Amino acid sequence: MAISIKPLTPHFGAELAGVDISNHITNIQFGEIREAFDEYSVLVLPDQPLTDEQQIIFSQRFGILESTRALNPGSGTPFARQSNLDIKTGETIPLSDRRMFYQKANMLWHSDSTFKSVPSLCSVLSAREIPPVGGATEFASTRVLYGRLSENEQNKFADLVIEHDFVYSRGIVGFTLSEDEAAKFPAAHHDLVRKNKNNGRRSLMIGAHAKTVVGWSEDQGRTFLENLVLRATAPNLIYRHEWRENDVVIWDNQAILHRATPYDTTNHRRLMQRTTISSSMPTN
Ligand SMILES: [Fe+2]
Repeated sequence: MAISIKPLTPHFGAELAGVDISNHITNIQFGEIREAFDEYSVLVLPDQPLTDEQQIIFSQRFGILESTRALNPGSGTPFARQSNLDIKTGETIPLSDRRMFYQKANMLWHSDSTFKSVPSLCSVLSAREIPPVGGATEFASTRVLYGRLSENEQNKFADLVIEHDFVYSRGIVGFTLSEDEAAKFPAAHHDLVRKNKNNGRRSLMIGAHAKTVVGWSEDQGRTFLENLVLRATAPNLIYRHEWRENDVVIWDNQAILHRATPYDTTNHRRLMQRTTISSSMPTN
């Protein structure tokens, strides 16, 4: 049976049904998922209870997995853990703890791993434990924004290079890294315009890690980049995902900005496991 595809907004995003990704999926099934991914940028797959191992096997169909760097509790594994639960004890982490403070930056519009010299293709996030209210994730498409640019802007943007910096983006929420930690995250340069190699569709590499435009003054660059994020995330252009337990959501880090939204971290439990797939190629 073919996988069914239901668009979620007029602009991007689709819900898929008729496939069980916890089991070995056929090349034909993966081909349909990959095609839908390139077309819709965000895929929602409900009712997919996954073990860590099953999530890894499925994610590897998209490419090589990034390993998570220091500072995330999943450091050294293929998982970036988004959770208020202590990885060792399973108890909730106090709000004042550095690990919770660190996760605050997830509430800024961003694409995962744009601060790496080889950026990510996509992320796979599975909802293992969710709070009864709150904790939605919002998505916006820079491919949609690219399609709305004037011809003049498209021409001008083709030459711009952006500096992405993890230390900068964590700094926005007041999280400072020690010198040793910061040394692990050198800034990266990427072309502003990113092209999907499968379908040639263009998008913009922007979001919280994008610090400035190379060759411009920092102020000018920031204003320019902040304005692009505002345009991409206009309320009529976003998709807000309210999680159900065992939802799996895949998003295209080449074309999608996303942000976390708040939930009651003191009284409710939340555990999301993210695998991040590398694009395996530099952008410029
Ligand atoms: Fe993220």
